[in-house]
Amino acid sequence: MTMIVDASDEEISSLTQSILIRYGIDFTCYEPKSLKRRIIRVLNLFSLGSVHELWVKFLSEPDFVHSFMNEISVGMTSMFRDPVLWTNLRKRMVNDYRSKNSISIWHAGCSTGEEVYSLGIVLKETLLKEKARAIATDFNQNAIEEAKKGEYHKIKMIENERNYKVFNPVSDFSRYYTADGKHAFMNHDLISHAKFKYHNLITDAYPMGYDLILCRNVMIYFDNVAKVKILNQFHASLNQGGYLIIGFFDTMSHLMDSDKFQLVDEGAKIFQKL
Ligand SMILES: C[S@@+](CC[C@H](N)C(=O)[O-])C[C@H]1O[C@@H](n2cnc3c(N)ncnc32)[C@H](O)[C@@H]1O
Repeated sequence: MTMIVDASDEEISSLTQSILIRYGIDFTCYEPKSLKRRIIRVLNLFSLGSVHELWVKFLSEPDFVHSFMNEISVGMTSMFRDPVLWTNLRKRMVNDYRSKNSISIWHAGCSTGEEVYSLGIVLKETLLKEKARAIATDFNQNAIEEAKKGEYHKIKMIENERNYKVFNPVSDFSRYYTADGKHAFMNHDLISHAKFKYHNLITDAYPMGYDLILCRNVMIYFDNVAKVKILNQFHASLNQGGYLIIGFFDTMSHLMDSDKFQLVDEGAKIFQKL
């Protein structure tokens, strides 16, 4: 029989406060509804009946916090997700970066790496790869390890291939991976320009000097105060004229300071640092 579990706002709020005090991990600025959904998912996954039982598990299993973090931040992603973005970004990259000597890129919240492989393919196809350097960060350590492996289930590859075909109808996606019966193994040279690192967008210092920051479908987790703080930090991280790309469901335009960012492509959600 499936248990029906729930969590009140008060329970969630006292849980996030306790996690902050005990581990220094800050979930207090996460968007409450999405955090609640994720905590209920964790309760079901570990067959826990209440937030109280969850906290008892935290106290009795010192390493449980890592599993909790990984489950809370499980991300939905796929290659060439939102094909219009990739088509428009390709045009912009060719125009802007052809004459540059180097291109520095930050994938913030890279999850299991699909976005990094996608951009690797774009860089290869536009002949910009040799001058690109990237960091790909996330606060989910499991996701980072998956990203480095670049091994994706064949079911996921159907969606990846379909998206790629919209982006580039005349090319063959299968030249970018090898496969066995169950999995595809992405060619490693697609990410040879990228270093994968742990980084928490809420608590860690931001690296500087980027031409392009992709932070797609990450802001959905955060409340407006955190979003504004992150936007200001991305602004400082970008070079003059650099691009910030957010996700299709990241409702942010109303929070963008028009002295700092200009929306240069509404359809693809590309902002440029002024
Ligand atoms: C839905 S995935 C997005 C993946 C990719 N950017 C894309 O759009 O395809 C969201 C990712 O944000 C990460 N994330 C959530 N909160 C974070 C934080 N405070 N710092 C860094 N990454 C975070 C999650 O771990 C997850 O991997």
